[in-house]
This record gives sequence, C-alpha cells and structure tokens, in this order.
Amino acid sequence: MNVAVIGSGGREHALCFKLSMSKKITKLFCIPGNAGTSQISTNLDVDYMNFELLYSALIANDISIVIVGPEVPLVAGIADYLNSKNIFTFGPSKKASQLEGSKAFMKKVCKDFGIPTAQYEEFDNLESAKKYINQSQHPLVIKSDGLAAGKGVTISLSKSESIQCAKEILDGKFKTSKKVVIEEFLEGEEASYFIITDGENYLPIGTAQDHKRIGEGDTGPNTGGMGAYSPSLLINKELQNKINKQIIEPTLKGLNKKGCKFVGILYAGLMIKNNQPKLIEYNIRFGDPECQVLMMRLDVDLLNLILSIKEKKLMSQKISWKKEPGITIVAAAKGYPGTYNTNSEIKNLQKIQTNNTRQIFHAGTINKNGKVLSAGGRVLNATCIGPDLAKARAEAHEMLKILEWDDLYYRKDIGWRVIN
Ligand code: AMP
Ligand code: GLY
Repeated sequence: MNVAVIGSGGREHALCFKLSMSKKITKLFCIPGNAGTSQISTNLDVDYMNFELLYSALIANDISIVIVGPEVPLVAGIADYLNSKNIFTFGPSKKASQLEGSKAFMKKVCKDFGIPTAQYEEFDNLESAKKYINQSQHPLVIKSDGLAAGKGVTISLSKSESIQCAKEILDGKFKTSKKVVIEEFLEGEEASYFIITDGENYLPIGTAQDHKRIGEGDTGPNTGGMGAYSPSLLINKELQNKINKQIIEPTLKGLNKKGCKFVGILYAGLMIKNNQPKLIEYNIRFGDPECQVLMMRLDVDLLNLILSIKEKKLMSQKISWKKEPGITIVAAAKGYPGTYNTNSEIKNLQKIQTNNTRQIFHAGTINKNGKVLSAGGRVLNATCIGPDLAKARAEAHEMLKILEWDDLYYRKDIGWRVIN
C-alpha cells in the first residue's frame, strides 16, 4: 500500500524513517517533506492546507493511508475531510483537535471531567483580565487561547508584565486567538507522556522530556523545542498508573461523551510534584523534537499500530522499545526564535555516518542545485540512542561537529537535569 506523511519537519522525517522499515509499504510519500525526507520517500510539493488539491494528489498517487504530523491541518479538519473521502487518515477530528487548538476548550474538558490541572480563568476583554491579574499572586501564566507554535505562553513575574501580555494577546498578536487564558503557576518537574488511541482503547507509545527554552540551563525565550530525551526518568510505574487513571482515561471518556472521539496520538504535557501529575497542556500529535527520539526507540512496526486502529484491533498489539535511552539535539539557525537567515548552505552532511542508532533528521532544509540549504529556524536534529544518555549526547555532538554551516546554533546541555 502507498502511505503519505503530512508535514515537513524533523518529526515527519523521523516518521518517514520509521515507516520506511515497514514491509507493508509499497511506496512512501512525504507532503511536502524536506531535503532529508527526499532520501527515503518521495516528496510531493502540494499545499496540504488546500484539502481538495491534497485529495487529488493522494488519488493520483494511489495513496490509501495518511499520517498527519503537525497540529495546524488537524485543527483545520484534515482528518474529517480525508476520512469522509475514504482515505484512512490517522489523526483526530477537527472537534477533538480543539484539545490543542483551544486552551479554553482543553481547560473546560479538565473542569468537566475532574482532570487535575492548574486553576484558570479565560477572558475576552482586557478590563476583566486586568481585574483578575490585579488580585492574583505572581508568577502567573498568561496564554493565548489558540495555536501559537509554542510561543503563546508567558510566565509572568509582575502585574504589569501580565497586563501587557494579556493586552498583546487580546490585540491579536496570535491571529488564532481572541481569548486569553490566565493560569496558576505550577511548580514541579515537567514530563511528556504519549499514547496512541482509537478513542476508547489506548497504548502508551513513549515518554520524553523536552527543553523548550533557547538558552543553556533552560533560559531565554520559549521555542518549538531545542532538544529532548526519552524515556523520561520521572515517570515510574506508579506515576504512569496515576496519569492513565486521572488524566488519560477521563479525557478519552469525556471526549466520547461530548461526541468527539479522539483517534490518533495524544501528547500530555505534565507537571509532576511529589509523584502527583497535573496536566499542563494537551497536544494532538507527536511532539517535535520528541518524536525523533521516540521513533528511534520504538521497537515495533509503526504502520502495524496505525493499521490496527483502522481495523479496530489496537488491543491486539504490543508496544516495545529499545532498552537504550535516546536523545535528540536541535541544530537551529543562529537568531532563532527571533530573526535568522535562511538559504545558507549546510556542508558535510554526507560525511556523517548514520544507522539505526544515530540519525540526522532534517527539519528545515531544502535541496537546491545539489546543495542542502537551511529553510527554517529549527534545521536539523542529531538523534542518537546509546548505552546511557551521556554517551548518546556525546555522539550527537560528534555528528554536529562534522557539519560545516556558518549559522549553526545548538544547546550543548540537553538532558542536563539527568546527565549531571
Ligand atoms: P504550553 O504551551 O501550555 O505547554 O506551555 C509551554 C510551557 O510553559 C510548558 O512546557 C511549561 O514549561 C510552561 N507552563 C505552561 N503552563 C504552566 C503552568 N500553569 N505552570 C507552570 N509552567 C507552565
Ligand atoms: N516540543 C513541543 C511540541 O512539540 O509541542
């Protein structure tokens, strides 16, 4: 069968890498893909947000299974559209995607179904937001309601900063947002927990810890993610059980009650304190760059898992992982998440040896006249598994040192909380 992955980042390269090992696939496509995916799949240069155009390209290439990487097309309803056209599309419906598409929706689900999360209020006008801010303890967390590519959250230390942030969001800084969500600041350590689900049954598909800040020691502005490792060392059996019972299961049941069954990958961003989980946020897809390490460690056929959902037999599947931990380090263009150059040449990629324990996943790259050029803020992901995280990280650094690329920036301390 022919299969397509939607997206063009490191997550999608890692999905293609994993799927390319599946014997059931005749031909693998990535839409639109990047310079890395073009080596292991066929890139189709189609605007996937134009669903009709996308559908024509899928039919023309006899593609019967679609796996959606990013949240934006899911929130826009890509799964509803393609599934209604009888192309099996792995990912949640438009309505269920509101779990990530609207923080207000996600918080309401938590409230309605008793899921532990930060206290919050939502506002659509500055006057009432101000009033609330003025009577709240700080730090306070100010969030845009809608999608903001990981940049819509500020942990604010003062009333004036909180008011400024709320004003910017309500003034339309993030076009997707007309509301601001103001939350209690949660203390603890973060962990990411991923499940694959048909809406009723689910299997855990991995845990990870990412580093969202641009600077070493987790400082500076938030980014889409500068690196990650897996497994998360915080999540033990007892805690996993609590996460399943207190967070995952009430969410799946609750969404069923609301008439929007969630099918796909659900990513719970958690705050852990005293072995108790609280939900910070839901994402409706694999994390990027967490997916890169998850795919490196997953020891079963990803397509089989996805087909088992199509065939309604997810619980006949078993998931296993390689025992080695994994790490991924994002090579970004200097200046990211602010302004940065694109179209700068990346040399020596072909000199880096890769295999099933070490990969360079491409995130923002394009091929031009036989050269690989940067095409985004997050550009490459050096991803390794190894006997321990320190060794895996050292190997990822070795790979990046081979590169000749003027704009290269990466954090050398990914995993610092557990490596030191
Ligand atoms: P989000 O996009 O909601 O995941 O937020 C991005 C990051 O902001 C999270 O990974 C946390 O580090 C931080 N964050 C978000 N909400 C809270 C909260 N209520 N308390 C503490 N930190 C938070
Ligand atoms: N790395 C965080 C995310 O994918 O949302």
